[in-house]
Amino acid sequence: MSAFALETIEKASVDELRALQLKRLKATLQHAYANSPVYRRKFDEAGVHPDHCRSLADLQRFPFTGKSDLRDAYPFGMLAVPRDRCVRIHASSGTTGKPTVVAYTQGDIATWASVMARSIRAAGARPGDMVHVSYGYGLFTGGLGAHYGAEKLGLTVVPFGGGQTERQVQLIADFRPDIIMVTPSYMLAIADEMERQGLDPRACSLRLGIFGAEPWTNDMRATIEQRLGLDAVDIYGLSEVMGPGVANECIETKDGPTIWEDHFYPEIVEPETGRPLAEGELGELVFTSLTKEALPIVRYRTRDLTRLLPGSARTMRRMEKITGRSDDMMIVRGVNVFPTQIEELILRQPALAPHYQCILTREGPLDCLTVAVEVAAGRAHDDGDAQSAAQGLAQHIKSFIGTSARIELRPAGGIERSMGKAKRVVDRRAL
Ligand code: DLL
Repeated sequence: MSAFALETIEKASVDELRALQLKRLKATLQHAYANSPVYRRKFDEAGVHPDHCRSLADLQRFPFTGKSDLRDAYPFGMLAVPRDRCVRIHASSGTTGKPTVVAYTQGDIATWASVMARSIRAAGARPGDMVHVSYGYGLFTGGLGAHYGAEKLGLTVVPFGGGQTERQVQLIADFRPDIIMVTPSYMLAIADEMERQGLDPRACSLRLGIFGAEPWTNDMRATIEQRLGLDAVDIYGLSEVMGPGVANECIETKDGPTIWEDHFYPEIVEPETGRPLAEGELGELVFTSLTKEALPIVRYRTRDLTRLLPGSARTMRRMEKITGRSDDMMIVRGVNVFPTQIEELILRQPALAPHYQCILTREGPLDCLTVAVEVAAGRAHDDGDAQSAAQGLAQHIKSFIGTSARIELRPAGGIERSMGKAKRVVDRRAL
């Protein structure tokens, strides 16, 4: 069967899918309990046993897993297989403390490659395509995840990785790839560099961009699509659950990532209490792996805020495009603000560029939000249009989000470019 045909499970009915999920869930809980001392202790403390799982709803009786469980077991204490059965280690750096370490058996790597291949196909890849990978290679899961999936589909992979933006642009011009896989913020930096080199981003060979690893809005999608003349599709994942390829948008609908539910079982819970929420309600996304060997993950609290939506291009459910993580939420004078809300409003101002950072400071007892944002390329940062765009932005933030913000205009290039995930919030309140 061609690697480009839908897999049987992608065409299965909801009933067939639920039956497979239950079978795999039972096996996962048994495996975790039997082989990982951390899970055995957690289940025992909660008074639950894998035999208690008779329906998918029974999963709610099992305890959550959090980043701290992985940190406490650093580096390999959560493994459910002997370390020498693992063929790969990845780690996410995190902002503080020790990295979170994850491991994969040969079987896990095969599963991951197949969900990534499925993701890239759903995103709109075609036989013969060339894929330029600008996600970082190394301990970050982005580069190698994309790489294995694209290779499995039989595509031609250019394993560039992050950084060296000038050379990225040169190779994109010379090799003429059809697809790019990169964070949306770094895509913008690459487009800027194309223009700096006198190249028209719309004229480049790229037909499709598979963007993820950080929150980005539908307005950002429109901006990138328009600027580079490509289809921009959302890819979601996290290292604790697998890496990229937990969910991916289908190009025919572009309506939020389809969750590859035969491998990852989603729930939504209330962030403060952990109470399960009904389908369609906004809350924290929680995942249980259904096929992982080295590091089965049971009810992992992602801290990503979204809602579950019914299937559209597939029977499997979708998640709404993620617009924030609870970690990124700023509370400014009592108002909850996500960087993506600011992003949407910046994109309404043609005199501004979507390179921005939210800076939090304290003045006396009060929190202050400053939005540092670049003016559009080719503009002086103090020209009249930019000034009125800044005023417009401040007004929009006040009326749509409900908080005051100071706008600091920066010249083009004045916000530090990240070569992977953009840092949107700078908190100077504790300094
Ligand atoms: O970022 C895996 C990945 C690589 C996904 C490449 C997509 C593409 P981590 O470094 O563990 O793994 O970070 C995971 O990034 O919990 C989300 O907060 C955020 N994230 C990932 N994809 C998206 C997305 C990789 N499409 C964390 N939209 C997750 C919004 C995303 N946020």
